Amino acid sequence: MTTAIILAAGKSERMGGGVDKAFLSLVNKPVVAWSLLAFERSQDVDKIVLVVRKEQLIASKAVVKMFGISKLHAIVPGGSKRQESVAAGLAACDVDTRHVLIHDSARPLVTPEMISEVAKAVRRTPAVACARPVTDTIKRCEKGCTVSATVPREKLWSVQTPQAFQIRELRAAFANLGKRVVTDDCEAVELNGAQVKLVENLRPNLKITTVEDLQVAGALLK
Ligand code: CTP
Ligand code: MG
Repeated sequence: MTTAIILAAGKSERMGGGVDKAFLSLVNKPVVAWSLLAFERSQDVDKIVLVVRKEQLIASKAVVKMFGISKLHAIVPGGSKRQESVAAGLAACDVDTRHVLIHDSARPLVTPEMISEVAKAVRRTPAVACARPVTDTIKRCEKGCTVSATVPREKLWSVQTPQAFQIRELRAAFANLGKRVVTDDCEAVELNGAQVKLVENLRPNLKITTVEDLQVAGALLK
């Protein structure tokens, strides 16, 4: 069985103004509903676990009902750090789950095709992420905005979600994390010594961080 964990328990601090970006309207539905529907439509996903802020548990139930998300297995409250929200999602997965897909609801442009690509790849390897080769020139600034160096970009990738894991590998990686903070789940697996592969995704899959990102996503989804 494959379970998708959809994360929507962040504080949206960079959006400002005390809003919860997961529940802002994007074209004709809340941001989180776009991801829920993509995983609902994927033939490679059996169950969905949704992780939200505890104040949003009731609103999330309404969203799930309104958009007919039949694969919903559980809605659980997240933690103060992203990795705590992932841990809460992992703890709520059905016992028969062998593969787990983790997705940031802040990426509403995810498609069933992207989901299938990582879901298929993870049958052959412990961990997989959607990613795109870096195309911008990358500069490093040690102090403020003064450039210290230009970083060769040939081997650099910009990593997105969905990411897919053999659940055993991800659980082991999380158990060994201790107090270390990771910015994505593949990093936990890397730190645990297992192999992580990237699947190239050139389709737009932006992460909504600011109000401007919401406008761009809206234009792409119309
Ligand atoms: N997330 C989560 N639990 C947290 C932090 C983040 O479930 N404690 C989720 C967010 O809801 C988001 C995804 O992880 O879908 C990526 O995080 P990010 O884009 O950083 O969202 P926020 O943490 O909400 O935003 P900010 O960092 O601006 O506060
Ligand atoms: Mg954050």
